[in-house]
Amino acid sequence: MTVIKVCLGSSCYVRGNNETLAFLENYINQNKKDISVELLGCRCTNSCQDGPNIFINDKKYSHPSQEELTHILEAL
Ligand code: FES
Repeated sequence: MTVIKVCLGSSCYVRGNNETLAFLENYINQNKKDISVELLGCRCTNSCQDGPNIFINDKKYSHPSQEELTHILEAL
């Protein structure tokens, strides 16, 4: 099980995680139906200065591009 958490705190959300969440939902639905990925929102983790932040199996990725996310997701 891969767990992806997208920070939905206001700072991360307005600085790109709104789009990242939509991108991840779409990508997973389109490409990863056969594996187990849980996509969750999370609250501010008090690292807004690094954001927007997401966490994949608790590893933090700060302001990942869609290209980087695609690369990460392909490797799952
Ligand atoms: S809003 Fe995401 S770390 Fe604070």
